[in-house]
Amino acid sequence: MAGDPTQAVAPIAPETLLDMASGLALVAEAWAGSLERHPDSRTGLRILAGEDYDVWLLRWPTGTAVSPHHHGDSEAAFVVSSGALEETRWLDGRREVRQLTRGQGATVERGVVHDVGAQVEALSVHVYSPPLARMAFFDDSAQEVLLEESVDPRQDAVIVGGPPIVVHSDGLGAILDKARERISPRIEPRELAAAMDAGALVVDTRPVELRHRDGELDGALVIDRNVLEWRLDPVGSHRLPEASDADRPVILVCDEGYASSLAAVSLLHLGRRNVTDLKGGYQAWRRFTQRQEAAGSGSDKGRSTHRSMTALRVEDVIFLDDLRALGIPWINRLVDPCTSREDVERAWTLIRMWGPDHEDAKDMLQLSAQLPQVKQDVQKTLDLIRLCEEYRR
Ligand SMILES: [Fe+2]
Repeated sequence: MAGDPTQAVAPIAPETLLDMASGLALVAEAWAGSLERHPDSRTGLRILAGEDYDVWLLRWPTGTAVSPHHHGDSEAAFVVSSGALEETRWLDGRREVRQLTRGQGATVERGVVHDVGAQVEALSVHVYSPPLARMAFFDDSAQEVLLEESVDPRQDAVIVGGPPIVVHSDGLGAILDKARERISPRIEPRELAAAMDAGALVVDTRPVELRHRDGELDGALVIDRNVLEWRLDPVGSHRLPEASDADRPVILVCDEGYASSLAAVSLLHLGRRNVTDLKGGYQAWRRFTQRQEAAGSGSDKGRSTHRSMTALRVEDVIFLDDLRALGIPWINRLVDPCTSREDVERAWTLIRMWGPDHEDAKDMLQLSAQLPQVKQDVQKTLDLIRLCEEYRR
């Protein structure tokens, strides 16, 4: 049996762990039948454990990866038993990638941040010392910890033939990425007011304690997270009147813009067709409005700051020129009416939210002619907008 996890044990040297993993990788098929198979998630089985180490067998369906992580206080090593894995690690700010095939592996010293992924189905053996008790998951650039997860090391020493103890998740970072691929383009704090004006339903899901502490979000509908699905189900009997139109854009707001992305996916499942969230949540919106006020360009709190007409900045002009340079036939009709920074923000938000052929976009921009529905053009525009956003940061 594994010992008391609170009792510190001396770690086994990573090179020894690599030897252990290499040997076990040769016979890993003995456990493979007990390891759950999932079409698109990694699965794991803890196959051996002592007081000072434990061993995991992992199955990697094609296309799966973890997300940058480290193994808490454990030294580690892993070896590919079948298939191939790609390992990425971040060392002194440098990103290094290597391919590992059958029989190949690596030591992962304590604190080293790495990621592992499979481009073909793979099976691998991972050894940790002390037994794996904690993992920390990072953002894509391996700079910021997004989640720390505990792994209970107090499991029976040998499990053969039993059900898998743990199904590894892909990590919160990967789950968030997947959620954000599915929802509509996320809204920046500076775009929120224009989106509201254009008819988006902005929903504040923060708990009452945070709203009392930090303040309300003007113009937003407050819906408690635990009744969100009931209130916004477009055909549900408990829905709010504002929620009846399944196409009405919905922008969810939480405190920092993580939980809202996951909640947005939940609303897609209910049949809403245009759901997104506010990047950075209420906190980012608050910082934005405070900066606006400090810069003297804002008047009242938040929502009204965009109303003050301020002249186009150099960056806005460059942005418009970039859009014109696309050479899309209708692009001039979209950008030429822009005479202020607010117009740019509105045009930008409208293109992102509805595409340039939507009625509201046309009305607001006083477009005189019908805009062609050319999907590739819209995609090109959205790509360029993303580049411009990067530039403007
Ligand atoms: Fe790892």
